[in-house]
Amino acid sequence: MIDAERRTALELIAAEVRDCTRCRLHETRRKAVPGEGDPDTEVVFVGEGPGQNEDREGRPFIGRAGDLLVKLLGSLGWRRSDVFITNVVKCRPPDNRDPMPDEIAACSAYLTRQLEILDPAVVVTLGRFSMARFLPGAKISQVHGTIRPADPETGARNALVLAMYHPAAALRTAAIERESFDDIAGLPGALIASRKRRDDGAGASSSEAALARDSVPATAAPSAPLPVASADAPADTTAPPSAMLPSSTGESSDTDQLTLF
Ligand code: URA
Ligand code: SF4
Repeated sequence: MIDAERRTALELIAAEVRDCTRCRLHETRRKAVPGEGDPDTEVVFVGEGPGQNEDREGRPFIGRAGDLLVKLLGSLGWRRSDVFITNVVKCRPPDNRDPMPDEIAACSAYLTRQLEILDPAVVVTLGRFSMARFLPGAKISQVHGTIRPADPETGARNALVLAMYHPAAALRTAAIERESFDDIAGLPGALIASRKRRDDGAGASSSEAALARDSVPATAAPSAPLPVASADAPADTTAPPSAMLPSSTGESSDTDQLTLF
């Protein structure tokens, strides 16, 4: 799929989401929040659900949690417009309560379709509800900062998952904020590992479109740091889905310069 087709397909989903009445959350929302970002990105962030600011504007992560997310991305030299940002549920749960299982189930197909279109190399889960979708049964205190293959059933057909705490939790607790900066430092390494895995044909077979996209000369950014950094990428990227890949924490000096394109 070329960039324009991907953009159109994502916009079609966004239009469906804005009119959606598949669960009770539509009754109390002001604006649904389909998600936004670069349709040609390799990295998708998945949060929990819109809060008050997001509900008002129809855009994800624009409140205080969003400000922290932008800072976390900034620590890598990335901007929010470099990635795609969405949520497990697209409408605000009233009073910011947790989304309920039937609401998550009702909304699930939208996220699956977004991931099928984006075919990301890395999915970053923000918080428990997002983590649960990609790493069922995992505990966030144990898996945050780790990198594991995504179940292709999620729609991310050949991706690695980096689990992180929700930025709202980081805003409440200084130790979690520090851990979040450590965790996101593993993202460039995860991207390198995933590119290699996709090039090697590990995991589910990449679509022709994805291969074409990945082989396009990286747009603006120099690809020079990649070969250097990839030498330090986790060696065993063919591990089965249950295996944990080492995160690249500690290798960030090699990957600091990595940009997305
Ligand atoms: N928290 C989320 O999980 N998602 C948003 O979009 C905003 C805050
Ligand atoms: Fe539809 Fe999802 Fe909004 Fe529920 S949360 S109304 S399923 S878009």
